[in-house]
Amino acid sequence: MNADTARHPFLQGLSKHRGAPPTVVVIFGASGDLTARKLIPAVYNLGHDNLLPADFHLVGYGRKAIPDDEFRALATSAIHEFSRRELNPAVWDRIAQNTTYVAGGYDEPEAFKRLAAHIAAIEKKISREVQVLFYISTPPTVFAPILKNLGASGLAAKHLGEPHHAKVIIEKPFGRNLASARELNATIRSVFEEHQVYRIDHYLGKETVQDLLVQRFGNAIFEPLWNRNFIDHVQITVAEEVGVGTRGGYYETSGALRDMIQNHTMQLLALTAMEPPVSLSAEDVRDEKVKVLKAIQALRPGPGGDTARAQYVTGFIGGKQAPGYLDEEGISATSATETYAAIRLSINNWRWQGVPFYLRSGKRMARRVSEIAIQFKRPPGTLFSDNPLYNIAPNTLAFQIQPDEGLSLILNGKVPGLETRTQPVKMNFRYSTTFGSNTPEAYERLVLDAMVGDGTLFIRGDEAEASWKLYTPVLEAWAAAGRDGMDTYASGSWGPKSADDLMAQTKSAWRQP
Ligand code: BG6
Repeated sequence: MNADTARHPFLQGLSKHRGAPPTVVVIFGASGDLTARKLIPAVYNLGHDNLLPADFHLVGYGRKAIPDDEFRALATSAIHEFSRRELNPAVWDRIAQNTTYVAGGYDEPEAFKRLAAHIAAIEKKISREVQVLFYISTPPTVFAPILKNLGASGLAAKHLGEPHHAKVIIEKPFGRNLASARELNATIRSVFEEHQVYRIDHYLGKETVQDLLVQRFGNAIFEPLWNRNFIDHVQITVAEEVGVGTRGGYYETSGALRDMIQNHTMQLLALTAMEPPVSLSAEDVRDEKVKVLKAIQALRPGPGGDTARAQYVTGFIGGKQAPGYLDEEGISATSATETYAAIRLSINNWRWQGVPFYLRSGKRMARRVSEIAIQFKRPPGTLFSDNPLYNIAPNTLAFQIQPDEGLSLILNGKVPGLETRTQPVKMNFRYSTTFGSNTPEAYERLVLDAMVGDGTLFIRGDEAEASWKLYTPVLEAWAAAGRDGMDTYASGSWGPKSADDLMAQTKSAWRQP
């Protein structure tokens, strides 16, 4: 039992020890931001929970020459700065003594031979074969050379055919349109078999996203209502308070559609809208996700269509004035990159025909909140209507993905008193009050799942392509239009008017989560 389960009785029974074989995790891009913020803390916290295999080795790989000691020191400060738990020296020392660094270029075959020799030396030292988990956490420009060198050096095929075969985790962005996603998939498949590949969308590692599956398929009351007979529309919001900060250079090549909508919000949509899978196996779940993505009708960009895009202008966040996007560091004064996108999707299948799915995501919005809101149809108006005393709201089931994780259901209830007055009331389930708040970070779950070979929470190649197929025409139309049709919204607001207009076309309005 770990410290958390000992502290909180409701956590008992939740911890599940899943054993991974002896493992070497190799991080490409070892001195990068993601490594420090997410990957090293994830490894540390897995160690803290006794979820790392007894023979666990961490190898940083990067272009910069860094001595082992210095890499360990960088990792130590990353844990101090970014881990959800304080550094416990007893835990970290065990991992640190097996933490090393290999310097080399990504397009340098000789360096990959050195890496292979480094891994072979670890196997020799512990007198056991290891599975190698390659984590590609570099800019996308070097994805292809890394993959090719993993193939050429024989590392990709290490122990293939055995349960402890090599695996690869690939970070986003997974292509920037359909053609580049297909090309990347082709490069991956020329080197790895699909079952060795773990494409990350970190939203799938969030507790609340996994809870969506449990709520949908672990409860009998939702399924009969989960269709076009009872649901009016669905709203998926991923709002951020932060602006682009120091990531302007990257963001200018991306924008809200590529950065958030095409991947994170589409994953939320797929889990919300898919049919019940035959089992929770990786292939069964992903088959259903792909089916629903393929059932989405082509989007119509442009005026009167299914999309809205906008850039933030100056406004107030937490009482402080924030600069507009065009005044941020590294942003062109004539930039046509959207920092907000809203999309209306129609799923053309038996369950969802006629039920619009609205997605929105933006930077510098009123507050950081991600939620999936299922808005049910209004009750027939015969009993409680046409009277100002009756304030009847449509029932809404909202999954709060973050922060303040949980679930709420809006019902209509009677206000106490001698006259019949109604009011919407909210029933809440909160993770923090029910389970305690120290939930694992998404990357902990995902690194562990890849180590034990469970691909359920990763994206399959055809899934990534299905989503790009939908959005590539929109990206092309937006690129051709430049700044024409680009709306604005004040920093600290809930988004542009064009997004409200999009909703108004179906007589709906955005929730203020
Ligand atoms: C990343 C995007 O994928 O997700 C970032 O590149 C964004 O722009 C981040 O800020 C949001 O993740 P989270 O987990 O903080 O909601």
